[in-house]
Amino acid sequence: MNGTLIQAHREGKGATGCGIAISKEELEKNSISTILRARWSKADLFLTEMNGKRVVLKDFSKKMFIIRIIGRIQIWREEKAYRALRGLDGIPRFCGRPDACSIVIEYVEGTRLTHYRGAVPFKRLIEEIKRLIDSVHGAGVIHKDLRGRENIIVRAGDDKLMLLDLAGAMIFRAGSVPHKLLFNLLKKVDDAAYLK
Ligand SMILES: Nc1ncnc2c1ncn2[C@@H]1O[C@H](COP(=O)(O)OP(=O)(O)O)[C@@H](O)[C@H]1O
Ligand SMILES: [Mg+2]
Repeated sequence: MNGTLIQAHREGKGATGCGIAISKEELEKNSISTILRARWSKADLFLTEMNGKRVVLKDFSKKMFIIRIIGRIQIWREEKAYRALRGLDGIPRFCGRPDACSIVIEYVEGTRLTHYRGAVPFKRLIEEIKRLIDSVHGAGVIHKDLRGRENIIVRAGDDKLMLLDLAGAMIFRAGSVPHKLLFNLLKKVDDAAYLK
């Protein structure tokens, strides 16, 4: 198999991918628009298509060497977090890893929470954020990057809150020693962020 091919449904791991396999070349060829051409240390993001579905390619591969190394670690962590949260309401689907420096995630059409001026009242939004964060914590994951609010999108059509950017997330296995010792403490990082 071509080295750039990815398996969206890897056996045993149960990724709820958007398709079966696709190459980076194909994602680039299907590119619809640039979501973010980031500064030197961050990933570039592109809206593209995979098996007829809109997806986001988050990619460090065009960055300088040292950033590609850091990017690999971030992408690896992000994949792990998406896998830990798969199937959870409010988390977009993980679709695959075309290579070590990039990840493909279901595209969420909508508005950043920071720019949302829709019909859902503020109190309801806060309740929804709390529900979302609690369910992420329930799966043993600390998001760690909720301060800016730009990682929460209000989905077009149903105003559902969707949580993005799991690159900084920490994953804890329920019942493990780190979970027992650290989880309740670290949960406060996310809780403090949304209460702000
Ligand atoms: N799956 C997605 N669907 C829609 N927009 C997205 C998606 N992933 C990222 N974005 C947009 O791109 C921005 C940057 O992506 P993010 O994963 O947060 O990268 P960074 O690590 O640079 O913050 C997000 O704030 C969001 O506006
Ligand atoms: Mg972000």
